[in-house]
Amino acid sequence: MRTDTGQVFRLEDYRPSDYLIPELDLTFRLDPERTIVTARLSIARREGVAADLPLVLDGDGLTLGQLLIDGRPAEDGAYEATPDRLTIVKPPKAQHFELTIVTRLAPANNKALMGLYVSNGVFCTQCEAEGFRRITYFLDRPDVLAVYRVRIEARKKEAPLLLSNGNPVEHGDLDDGWHYAVWHDPFPKPSYLFALVAGDLGVVRDRFVTASGRDVALAIYVEHGKEALAAYAMDALKRSMRWDEERFGREYDLDVFNIVAVSDFNMGAMENKGLNVFNDKYVLADPETATDVDFANIEAIIAHEYFHNWTGNRITCRDWFQLCLKEGLTVYRDHEFSADQRSRAVKRIAEVRTLRAHQFPEDQGPLAHPVRPRRYREINNFYTATVYEKGSEVVRMIRTILGAEAFRAGMDLYFERHDGQAVTIEDFLACFEAVSGRDLSQFSLWYHQAGTPNVTATTRYDPSAREYTVELEQSVPPTPSEARKRLMHIPLAFGLVGPDGQDMAYESVEGAAVEDSVIHLRKRRQVIRFKGVEVRPILSLNRGFSAPITLSQETSASDRLFLARHDSDLFSRWQALDTLLTKALIDASARIRGSKEPEFEAALLDCAAEIAADERLEPAYRALALTLPAEADIAREIGSNIDPDAIGAARASLRKAIAIRAHENFAALHRNLEDKGPFSPDAESAGRRALRNVLLDYLAAGSGEPALALHQFENSTNMTERMAALTVLAHQFPTSEATQKALAAFEERYRDNALVLDKWFIVQATIPGPDTVDLVRRLMEHEAFSLMNPNRVRSLIGSFASANQTGFNRVDGEGYRFLAETVLRVEAHNPQVAARLAVAFRSWRSLEKGRQEHARAALAHMAQQPELSRDLRDIVERTLA
Ligand code: TRP
Ligand code: ZN
Repeated sequence: MRTDTGQVFRLEDYRPSDYLIPELDLTFRLDPERTIVTARLSIARREGVAADLPLVLDGDGLTLGQLLIDGRPAEDGAYEATPDRLTIVKPPKAQHFELTIVTRLAPANNKALMGLYVSNGVFCTQCEAEGFRRITYFLDRPDVLAVYRVRIEARKKEAPLLLSNGNPVEHGDLDDGWHYAVWHDPFPKPSYLFALVAGDLGVVRDRFVTASGRDVALAIYVEHGKEALAAYAMDALKRSMRWDEERFGREYDLDVFNIVAVSDFNMGAMENKGLNVFNDKYVLADPETATDVDFANIEAIIAHEYFHNWTGNRITCRDWFQLCLKEGLTVYRDHEFSADQRSRAVKRIAEVRTLRAHQFPEDQGPLAHPVRPRRYREINNFYTATVYEKGSEVVRMIRTILGAEAFRAGMDLYFERHDGQAVTIEDFLACFEAVSGRDLSQFSLWYHQAGTPNVTATTRYDPSAREYTVELEQSVPPTPSEARKRLMHIPLAFGLVGPDGQDMAYESVEGAAVEDSVIHLRKRRQVIRFKGVEVRPILSLNRGFSAPITLSQETSASDRLFLARHDSDLFSRWQALDTLLTKALIDASARIRGSKEPEFEAALLDCAAEIAADERLEPAYRALALTLPAEADIAREIGSNIDPDAIGAARASLRKAIAIRAHENFAALHRNLEDKGPFSPDAESAGRRALRNVLLDYLAAGSGEPALALHQFENSTNMTERMAALTVLAHQFPTSEATQKALAAFEERYRDNALVLDKWFIVQATIPGPDTVDLVRRLMEHEAFSLMNPNRVRSLIGSFASANQTGFNRVDGEGYRFLAETVLRVEAHNPQVAARLAVAFRSWRSLEKGRQEHARAALAHMAQQPELSRDLRDIVERTLA
């Protein structure tokens, strides 16, 4: 384990590399215990750099076997090798020279899953962000781009399949049952995009002809016997390739595109050039084993990694501070893809829910950082919701400000100007400034300042003057990264909703702040006067969530109900209802804390039920409208002195109140929505299942009986409905016989399917209440559980810590102690996964006093460990600070 040295990396310290590596020749002789890597690096000293400047290559836990300089063994004193550095003390005088470096690795013992490791008998690599230095000594930084030629040698029986980046060049047999393959990637790339896979896998093949007629051989490699489960991923890949041509004019550029699914993987997937490596969870799916959410995730992640080919690979990051340059932009692209493939409004609501659930708490807590950070201790800890999700929102705002056409022109210019380069956010923004003639300097603060901006809106209508006034005010709270904030440019899409639900016209507007249904808030306070407004409108603000802010708008409940029923913007309709529900839940939780019965307005209950039954709306949309704000959403809105138990009770009582009031309608709807005919994963069918499943949750809550859920569990023909039923059983009736029966049946049916058992772990780890921590402890002893596998760890431990408010935040602190203890166990072999688990502590200061103290103690316990990894120490210390 690489322990912490306390070193901090800063953006302002960036300097171009003194040496470049235009070409790299790699040879791997693969063996689980003793792999030999021979790397031949062509080195070029940058123009103007002194000839005697030492060359320092990065390493991480390496042992040097041999070193040749220009083909001759290096003499003692000519170099210094440590596990994390190889220094060529006196490099050759010539501007170009060659190094040959031999390192030895034991991939079977690599449980950190960075660098070269073995997963389920398959050799594979993960190099982003700094894993390549665990393979060989190198200038392991994204602005050093090399053309790779890779030769892989392996035992033919152990690894009939030999893959790397680029195009295949040759392959053949060697002595003693060994064989080899050579790959060549013509596109210069940074080391983090290198990949190698070797093993015995099954394959699904297809082909794709690009717009300009290039014939691309597509392949997805999976465990033998699972080929049929890759069909949906293949379909998603072809749709992604076509979409990128149509929407962004981007074509694929190699003869082959390979995807490999592995079962041990630290994250979702990785965009290595021409050889994407995936967590098998995001490849394998069929109706029997995958839910509709799984299908949608597969589609999105396949697209995401494919889109990286242009946004990330052809144009890459100058340094890791620019991570959002590829990630935020690529998330934006995959969001747009999913919106086009599915329902735009539903997709947008789901995105905003995720943003609020993951990015808002990050931005509002101790780990807050700008979309483009200026400092880090461990880059692995910056693959965050802020970089990815808020980074995507920032790109979306650029499009809102510029309009569709100029946005596309800016993207075209970006691809044209920077193809083949490693660039910065400034380079990216300059393209949009160039095509639009706009000054984006104030806007660029979205990249530089952390924190969720608050906007307050007050409105006034003057009937005699026929004038409607909107007064806006912005503020950005302080964060650890910046104490004082500058004023932001916040684009707020809006409409003035009239009594018939249509947007009202106005004759003119005072001030230059309004442009095409968007208010551009740039000052602290801005007053906008709409002239010639016939009757009092209702302001629908931040439509489509045009800016990632929190909005406080003084609006009466009846106006909000009106928007929930009639706003022409579907996102804002949903938002209006969600705001009302959240307010009701906050109120109810306060009453419960004061030992009073919660009360709910009949009009609100009816509005929710009415939207659920409105056949003019898509089922998926109605399902979202019926999904109550999560406990964590309510907690975030309350902000401080939080009692998770009261929130949980409030939510359960609102669910019950809606269920009782709408019982008849819900029961009929639930029956009518039953899936008939063959399963299809398309968005429309998935939407119907989603609605049916939310209804089941209500019906069970209303009746207080598990019977209906058990019936659905036993009779469903797909995982979506089976899992939804099991969740209702386990979460609403944890101790009932029906639940025990269902859990046992599920376990028995899927005992050999690790990905499905993950769902079984999740459903139990998220059972609300104080007993779950003990259940999780017991489940860690289950034969299917392993602390070595990140998917298992995330399912059982991760979901307990981040998706079980009442379980994790148990009043006696047992949840926190359990997490700290488990994080330390995981850290011993996989610091990256351990650090991510520890992030679950990030909102500890907003809890009530008693829980705060328990959480602090658990964090302090981790901090006191003498030997912490850089990954974990960074998270723990920032969380405590
Ligand atoms: N670049 C990958 C993506 O967003 C994610 C990634 C970063 C990753 N670091 C990783 C994946 C480490 C696995 C392991 O698509
Ligand atoms: Zn990505």
